[in-house]
Amino acid sequence: MKDYLIYFAQAYPNFRRAEIESLAQLHGISIDMSHHDEQNPFLIVQLENDLQAQQIMERSVLGRGIYELWGQGKDLDELHASVKESSHDKFELYKQASFKFDFIGYMGSRSNKTKFAMIESFSFLAFEGPIRMKNPDEIFTVLEEYKVTGNDKATTPERMWFGRQIQLSARVGNILDKYDLRRRKYIGTTSFDAELSLVSCNIAQVDQGKFTYDPFAGTGSFLVAAANYGGISIGSDIDIRTLRGKSDQCNIKANFNQYGTSLQFVDVLTMDFTNNALRQSLCIDTIVCDPPYGVREGLKVCGAKDPEKAAGRENVVIDGEKAHLRRDFIQPKKPYQLSNLLDDLLRFSASRLPVGGRLAFWMPTANDDFEINQIPQHAQLELIYNLEQEFNKWSRRLLVYVKRDESYVGQTSNGLKSQGIKDFRERYFNGFSEKSR
Ligand SMILES: C[S@@+](CC[C@H](N)C(=O)[O-])C[C@H]1O[C@@H](n2cnc3c(N)ncnc32)[C@H](O)[C@@H]1O
Repeated sequence: MKDYLIYFAQAYPNFRRAEIESLAQLHGISIDMSHHDEQNPFLIVQLENDLQAQQIMERSVLGRGIYELWGQGKDLDELHASVKESSHDKFELYKQASFKFDFIGYMGSRSNKTKFAMIESFSFLAFEGPIRMKNPDEIFTVLEEYKVTGNDKATTPERMWFGRQIQLSARVGNILDKYDLRRRKYIGTTSFDAELSLVSCNIAQVDQGKFTYDPFAGTGSFLVAAANYGGISIGSDIDIRTLRGKSDQCNIKANFNQYGTSLQFVDVLTMDFTNNALRQSLCIDTIVCDPPYGVREGLKVCGAKDPEKAAGRENVVIDGEKAHLRRDFIQPKKPYQLSNLLDDLLRFSASRLPVGGRLAFWMPTANDDFEINQIPQHAQLELIYNLEQEFNKWSRRLLVYVKRDESYVGQTSNGLKSQGIKDFRERYFNGFSEKSR
């Protein structure tokens, strides 16, 4: 095993570990991230080789890059000593390679003059290859962590690392710019943040050729994110207007065309999830979604609020046909509880995912009375991540479950209902003023 240094972005630090572990597992790589510190964007991990490092970083959104670690220290002298001691055997390997130096400063930076002086200070590496600013064979990077105290700008780093760049992440490759909602052809009030859609798909292990289903597809944010990673996307939603979009140039398909992933788009169906019509034999590898919680969009299912009245309407005839059997019949809809919908989602996932397949969805919770047992559970699904994005009085949590085989016996529980928790919508619109129970 060798040491590699991961440099993370300063975004959603509590999601980092789940993203990297999930990408590692997707490639059959074992990685120990138990020492990850959310306050620190630098993390040393042990991996077998550069290929593994490349595989875990290539599609990462929360990582920025990974480096083969050559040395580290509190200051330049310590860094030099560390590189000489632990990496002298590597100098020869890169002697003739074209190369350049790069600098990364966290919470601080250096002038060009000091950078040049630092490059000179590494002359003991005795590289003889040409310096190439464009497409060099190797990029050697000095990474520095500065600590800012109060308003004073830090001038000297607290820690330094020297490494050979192995892989920069999708984030550095501008994936966030590409999927930015402001430039997306079709969006709506429910469109999900591009960065977290991509992170959700990474943690859900969407992959090349894997069938990925979003049962609450809306404007298709998770569908395009999944296709970016090679997933085959299919969605459904109860609201035909959202699925249809505004025109041929402004709908879900137009988004796939925009991103060059139209071959990965199966289709979207108008369907109430609780009356799911996807055939049982259809293999669904991954489910990623943002279920309706009734704030920006209604949580409705097919059915009549008053079944007696509805039964009376079954005898209505139009042009000789029973009205409710005509193609233009619009199904009545009735409100439904989020807790029941989440139960349905877990049950569906447990019955449709293959062993090892993941369900990842976002669930809203109030901050003043959240308890872990509000999270729904299913006996065949193991909850592996509960990642919180906190707002003022409430949070949304990315819950990630993996389907286990028969040897796994978990518990089934409808978290919210079993805890007597009031509907999230009600609490949201009351400003979380009353307690939820
Ligand atoms: C939070 S939004 C998801 C938005 C979506 N991620 C997007 O990118 O626009 C929830 C969606 O669930 C849909 N929905 C509500 N009840 C439903 C049901 N019973 N079956 C299927 N979809 C439903 C709503 O129409 C809404 O589009």
